[in-house]
Amino acid sequence: MTMATLVLIILAVILVQISIVILSGLYRRRQQYLKLGKRIHKAENLSKPNALIRASTEPVTPAPVWEGFKEFIVQRRVMEDENNSICSFYLVPTDNKPLSPYKPGQFLTFKLQIEDKASHELKSVVRCYSLSDTYRSDCYRISIKLISAPVSEPDVPPGVSSSFFHDFVHEGSRLLVKAPTGHFHLMEDVLLPIVLIGGGIGVTPMLSILNSILERGIKREIWLYYGVRNRDEHIMKEYLQSLASTHDNFHLHVCYSAPNESDIEGIDYQHNSRVIIPLLRATLKTIRYQFYVCGPKPMMESLVPGLKDWGVDSDDIYYESFGPASLIKHEKVVTTGNEQPITVTFSRSGKSLPWNFSADSLLEFAESNDIEVDSGCRAGSCGSCQTAVKSGEVNYNQEPDTDVAAGHCLLCICTPKIDLTLDT
Ligand SMILES: Cc1cc2nc3c(=O)[nH]c(=O)nc-3n(C[C@H](O)[C@H](O)[C@H](O)COP(=O)(O)OP(=O)(O)OC[C@H]3O[C@@H](n4cnc5c(N)ncnc54)[C@H](O)[C@@H]3O)c2cc1C
Ligand code: FES
Repeated sequence: MTMATLVLIILAVILVQISIVILSGLYRRRQQYLKLGKRIHKAENLSKPNALIRASTEPVTPAPVWEGFKEFIVQRRVMEDENNSICSFYLVPTDNKPLSPYKPGQFLTFKLQIEDKASHELKSVVRCYSLSDTYRSDCYRISIKLISAPVSEPDVPPGVSSSFFHDFVHEGSRLLVKAPTGHFHLMEDVLLPIVLIGGGIGVTPMLSILNSILERGIKREIWLYYGVRNRDEHIMKEYLQSLASTHDNFHLHVCYSAPNESDIEGIDYQHNSRVIIPLLRATLKTIRYQFYVCGPKPMMESLVPGLKDWGVDSDDIYYESFGPASLIKHEKVVTTGNEQPITVTFSRSGKSLPWNFSADSLLEFAESNDIEVDSGCRAGSCGSCQTAVKSGEVNYNQEPDTDVAAGHCLLCICTPKIDLTLDT
């Protein structure tokens, strides 16, 4: 063997060893990267195999530091869009104590006393509103859209709570507020880049997540897809644009579905479209992101399954719906007429009734039978409809977003499984 051959063999051996080290390093990194997306355990479909439920099942929200409702005073209000249909309220506690921290994406629950238009009596109304900013110890911010009557039913009254906030809640107004809660929030232990998708006012929890990440100087890559009709409804337009121009890790994609004539693509907005899967595929290229989605019902119903069809792991999709207008309902049970009859007994009201298999929830069923039950969000978030189950079992249409006491159920998101007696 010549010296040259020996040198060549030694070089080849060194080269092979270097390649093995590089390849095993790459393999290890890939395994770690894949594991990151798996940390949050799989959502359990609570009752129905086809039910659309949010992906996060983190068991408990952090313990609220105050129980029940606490008094806040409105420090200031700010209109956030050209239509003046979205108003932010800055709330400070009247006891001046530092505020409970919250996870970006969580919400507050309000108990309001609102005059009933017909009887002129004060009625208690419970509603939830997402915190729309990063945590500060002295002040919470919420941003509320005024909800008018549906286009198809122009004669019905506009939204009770949102109208009350816009028309009657001013600087100095006092409000009763439950501590922040909610399972939809930023998952900080998973380091994948983030895609936030907000439709209309569904952008509020995304603002909280976005501001929290950027204000803390975290260099996590973050994309915001925000869908509205046009500039009139565009929340915090200049603010979002300034964030995008000052943070390399923030990519803003505003989608106008019906731009005004004066709206300029590339300046006022980026895409003349709704937020749709082909747009996400074209701009993101890969699926290795955590996706957070909140918006109106049609958007949720197309995007959540669409992301899964694209190949995004369910563990990487988190979503929230905003109450009755946009709630993702379970797949309607197809009634055959051959179901085993179920009797629902409302013990305090003294009524035993055959369950109506086409009713969406026990709350809807109770109301349609003139049984008075407390309710608020009608979305499993506020806990107002929590009721003791004296006997029987229920199915959940979606995961509750509030802690439910043992032996109780949330009427707004439950249906009976077998004969049921409720303490109401
Ligand atoms: C977790 C969570 C977070 C939320 N975060 C936010 C947020 O950050 N910002 C925000 O703005 N909202 C948010 N919401 C939604 C909010 O809680 C309310 O649902 C929303 O403000 C509408 O409440 P409302 O009382 O104004 O309307 P409602 O009085 O509940 O009315 C809803 C709709 O029904 C119509 N209506 C009234 N009467 C009738 C009738 N007889 N027949 C048919 N239709 C009728 C009304 O015109 C209106 O269009 C959130 C909801 C949840 C669950
Ligand atoms: S009405 Fe809010 S949890 Fe049922």
